[in-house]
Amino acid sequence: MTAPLTIAIDGPAASGKGTISRRVAAHYGLRHLDTGLLYRGVAALVRERGVDAQDAEAVGAIAAGMNEAVLARSDLRDGGIGNIASVVASHPPVRAALLQWQRDFAQGGAVLDGRDIGTVVLPDASAKLFVTADADVRAARRWRELSKTEDISYRRVLDDIEERDRRDSGRSTAPMSHAADADLLDTSEMTIEDAVTEALRLIESRLG
Ligand code: DC
Repeated sequence: MTAPLTIAIDGPAASGKGTISRRVAAHYGLRHLDTGLLYRGVAALVRERGVDAQDAEAVGAIAAGMNEAVLARSDLRDGGIGNIASVVASHPPVRAALLQWQRDFAQGGAVLDGRDIGTVVLPDASAKLFVTADADVRAARRWRELSKTEDISYRRVLDDIEERDRRDSGRSTAPMSHAADADLLDTSEMTIEDAVTEALRLIESRLG
């Protein structure tokens, strides 16, 4: 029996990993899970229930009780939620509660994108990418998106991205990091079409 095809795509906010992951999943006919949505779901419940985002135990209990319906909420992409998500994601009980959920999703084959997919969630993935781009390029992309619906300055978006990068890569449990066997894809000077083409080329050469 051949192992199911699993593809791990990690990287920082607004690197292009979300779009690349959706397109890679469509190319191979695989399901796709944006794992950031799980942490954003926990963050939305934390905010709604007035729980202290720094309280690892209370937030861990929310993560353990969360169901899939939360992922359909329309507020998960709000500017403020990303930062709370980054704080709640630093708590080991939260990561433990969400780990099996992600692995179950990958059974039978899938594309997962996040921060620790290649290192922790699917260390044996068939192919791994670490997608990145310069912080100012990522901030400009994110600002263009957010400013369609929110009154927010570019500077604020850049500060937010830099703060999240620091927190996501500096935490002690499952920090964002480039798995040793992941291919690096820097999208700073690429159009999204170029980035998707390059992602598929790298994955194909891994799958051999
Ligand atoms: O990918 P995103 O920006 O939607 O993720 C929101 C936050 O969730 C991010 O700042 C860190 C956290 N996250 C994580 O710690 N691990 C993942 N696999 C995915 C997201």
